[in-house]
Amino acid sequence: MMENVFIMDHPLIKHKISMLRDVNTGTNEFRKLVEEIGILMGYEALRDLPTKDVEVTTPLETCKTPMISGRKLAVIPVLRAGLGLVNSILTLVPSAKVGHIGLYRDPETHEPHEYYCKLPDPISERIAIIVDPMLATGGSAVQAVDFVKAKGGKTIKFMCLIAAPEGLKKLHEAHPDVQIYVGNLDRELNENAYICPGLGDAGDRIFGTK
Ligand code: PRP
Ligand code: URA
Repeated sequence: MMENVFIMDHPLIKHKISMLRDVNTGTNEFRKLVEEIGILMGYEALRDLPTKDVEVTTPLETCKTPMISGRKLAVIPVLRAGLGLVNSILTLVPSAKVGHIGLYRDPETHEPHEYYCKLPDPISERIAIIVDPMLATGGSAVQAVDFVKAKGGKTIKFMCLIAAPEGLKKLHEAHPDVQIYVGNLDRELNENAYICPGLGDAGDRIFGTK
């Protein structure tokens, strides 16, 4: 296992990813599954959040007990498909702020193109968790992390549901300091840079477009 790369092994995540892959899973169910997997993975990705003991009075006595402390969170979806994972993180940490990075892959070259970037300011003060269901060639993820770093981001996590080995390697090599959380590591990319077996086009399946 590469340092800073975490591949999920929980049976609930495996089961729900299998349901996502099914071509017969419709838009509504697909969206719900993405959100549920995001919550389960978010639980893992936020495992190292710092805590501080605070004083709380129970009905019986006053005690010191841990609560999340330190820097606040920013969840940053890569548009469009990353939007499907925003509520997962907000369910876990309702105080998180939300940034957006708009990127699309050129269908011919598969290179990412930026069309939007707006992050909570200052991003340097927050733990940034970039979310995108798919890590294929890795071009979009590398560029998304580049943006966050260019705006001052220092502590950055990247969470995806499915990764291709090529994309995982590219992201890890470009940004070895970024903790990468992967729901499942799939076999390979095909000639159109789609992940196999994968789940198809995540954006189209979440939003019901084609
Ligand atoms: C998909 C996906 C990632 C990107 C991954 O987005 O959501 O952002 O492709 O591919 P890569 O690792 O090869 O860069 P897409 O460009 O299809 O845009 P969409 O979310 O707007 O549909
Ligand atoms: N983007 C997707 O949505 N799916 C893939 O398999 C690759 C890139």
